[in-house]
Amino acid sequence: MFNDKENFDIDMKNIPNHIAIIMDGNGRWAKKRGLIRKAGHKAGADTLEKVSRYAQKLGVKHLTVYAFSTENWKRSDEEVSGIMDLLRKYLDEHIKKCKKDNFKVTMLGDPLRLDTDIQEKIKTLESLTKDNTGLCLHIALNYGGRDEILRAVKKIAVDVKNGVVEPENIDENYISSSLDTEGLPDPELLIRTSGEERISNFLLWQIAYSEFVFSDKLWPDFGENDLREAIYMYQNRDRRFGGRK
Ligand code: IPE
Ligand code: IPE
Ligand code: MG
Repeated sequence: MFNDKENFDIDMKNIPNHIAIIMDGNGRWAKKRGLIRKAGHKAGADTLEKVSRYAQKLGVKHLTVYAFSTENWKRSDEEVSGIMDLLRKYLDEHIKKCKKDNFKVTMLGDPLRLDTDIQEKIKTLESLTKDNTGLCLHIALNYGGRDEILRAVKKIAVDVKNGVVEPENIDENYISSSLDTEGLPDPELLIRTSGEERISNFLLWQIAYSEFVFSDKLWPDFGENDLREAIYMYQNRDRRFGGRK
C-alpha cells in the first residue's frame, strides 16, 4: 500500500488538527529480525520520536498515541517490565530536552496502576512542558476507551450527587469534558499500523467521525512519507457527517 519513493503531494492548508495513532507491530518487527520483543518496543519508541517531529513540521497541533492499553497488562511480566523501563527512559530523556523540542506533553489513561516513580516523572514532564507552544503530544498509557468512559460516568455521578449539574443538563459537551481528552478537538484522522484493522479500545467516544487509515507497515518502519500518505488519503476522503452534499 505504501510506496517509499513517492512523495505524497499533500495540501498544507488542510492538515488535520488532531491525528491519533495506534502504534502497533513492534513485536512482529522484532520477531522478523530474530530479536526479543523489548528491542521492538525500543525501535517503536524511536519511531514515536521521529513521527512526533514530522507531525510538528507539518503543522499538526495534536498527536495522540496509544502506547499501552488497559489490556496490555495481560502480557508476560518480562514484556510489561521491559515496556515500563523504556517508558522511564523516554520520560527522562524528554524531561532533559523539553525546552528544545517545544512539545507540550500530556498523558491520557488512568495513572494509578503505573509505578509511583513513573507517575512522578509524568507529572514532572507535564508541568515542565505546559507552556511549550509546539506539538501537543498526548500519550495514552494504561488507557482503555471503556475505562475512560467508566471513569467519566463515575465523575458525572458525583457531580450530580453534589448538585454541580442537573441530570437534564448533561449533554455531549459535558461528557466530552469529563473524559481524559477534556478540551481537545476530536481526531480527524486515526492511523493504525501493522495491518490490523480494529480499534482495540482506543478513543471510543472521540472517533465518532474520524477517518481511519490502516497501514501495513509495522510501527518501527513507519516514516515521514507514510504519515504524508495517511494525510493524503484523509484529504481525499469525502466527509459528510451524516449530511448530504
Ligand atoms: C504495539 O506493538 C505496542 C504495544 C501494544 C505495547 P505490539 O507489541 O502489539 O506488537 P505486535 O502486535 O505483537 O507485533
Ligand atoms: C493496541 O495494540 C494497543 C497499543 C498499540 C498500545 P494491541 O497489539 O494491544 O491490540 P490487539 O491485541 O492486537 O487488539
Ligand atoms: Mg499488537
